[in-house]
Amino acid sequence: MTTDTPNFSPGLEGVPIAESAISLVNGQAGRLTYRGYSIEELTQPGVSFEEVVALLYDGELPTQARLGEVRSQMAKYRVLTDEQVALARTAAKMTHPMFALQAAVALLGPQDNDFERKVDTVQQRGLELVAKVGHLVAVIAEAWAGREYTGPKPDDSQARYMLRMVTGEEPSELHVRVMDALLILQADHSAGNASTFTSRVVASTKAEPNAVVSSSIGALSGPAHGGANEGSLRLFLDIADPAQAEAKIERLLDDKFKIPGFGHRVYHVKDPRSKVIQTLAAEVIKPGTKEADLYNIALTVEKVATARLGDRGLFPNVDLFSGCVFAAIGIPIDFFTPMFAASRTVGWTANMREQWDSGNRIFRPSQIYTGQPDREFVPISQR
Ligand SMILES: CC(C)(COP(=O)(O)OP(=O)(O)OC[C@H]1O[C@@H](n2cnc3c(N)ncnc32)[C@H](O)[C@@H]1OP(=O)(O)O)[C@@H](O)C(=O)NCCC(=O)NCCS
Repeated sequence: MTTDTPNFSPGLEGVPIAESAISLVNGQAGRLTYRGYSIEELTQPGVSFEEVVALLYDGELPTQARLGEVRSQMAKYRVLTDEQVALARTAAKMTHPMFALQAAVALLGPQDNDFERKVDTVQQRGLELVAKVGHLVAVIAEAWAGREYTGPKPDDSQARYMLRMVTGEEPSELHVRVMDALLILQADHSAGNASTFTSRVVASTKAEPNAVVSSSIGALSGPAHGGANEGSLRLFLDIADPAQAEAKIERLLDDKFKIPGFGHRVYHVKDPRSKVIQTLAAEVIKPGTKEADLYNIALTVEKVATARLGDRGLFPNVDLFSGCVFAAIGIPIDFFTPMFAASRTVGWTANMREQWDSGNRIFRPSQIYTGQPDREFVPISQR
């Protein structure tokens, strides 16, 4: 098409796609902040997912009153109709939970398709999605495991009911605390990651919020993005024996295999989220368990891959250790990425609102055309 784009950057590396005040990734220092607060502070015991939702949406830490308001709004918004539950349960039996989730979120849309007329509801629609996506993940997990639908209890936090519905057991306080921290840790990661960029692009077409989030779920499902948490644990399960880990990883690296949970476009030091996950791992993984073996394999992967790739700026990212912690609190492997989606819906929808607030100019980049020059059409009878 056009030929006026001399500076092509594959993967848009280094190209700003938005101005954003929501979160900041400092790739050289290995630091992630939400609205100026470090993720290390925001994942301390006592901080809930709902508190960070309020922070990311409002720009300020909530007062007790504001937190109460967000909690009760989320409890109200998470309600699903019988039909929505039934559709999500049907989808759960047909396909991977991420695709079932994507389909179920697409079906949350209204009968009309005219969001610009309702744009003053953008924050409320975003919060509704944060509440409903968490609920849908839990609905899909129950159906996937062959259990009946139970639903959240009135006073449940998102971390508590999701854990109960996904695992089928009443969670301990420690597991709820770890779940809150995991939800917080994955809630946002600047506007430039593939799924949040997707949310910006789809919002820029003035699409309905559920279309924005279902598109972002599709982007997150890929193994180069959110799917890496599932990929890394499957690799550790495949390695199985910690004593074999070193030799197996060396061989995989010789074969140019891309280790899931390793490397990052922006971080050229160890991802700060993986450090927080390791503190959670120390709290929740019990010595002598299967998860302890998997975590030891993950540590060996870190050691071997860092020795081989560290001088090229490649280090563990959030997904090297997150699977071990998800597994330790009872989350099935197929639900690691849906859990991530439930968390990142906050970032996607906060970015959706910011996109609208910025004037919402449609994304329409250019290309460098490498095809044929103009030529004469030849009718099929003459070819
Ligand atoms: C995250 C990721 C997609 C970043 O991609 P990127 O910035 O485009 O970097 P590239 O894929 O071009 O990799 C650059 C080089 O590092 C190597 N590399 C990158 N990640 C690697 C990994 N996980 N294991 C081994 N080598 C890796 C590539 O093979 C490439 O080497 P080459 O220059 O010899 O061809 C990439 O590191 C990756 O696929 N990681 C595994 C998946 C993952 O963990 N994703 C979650 C991210 S939070």
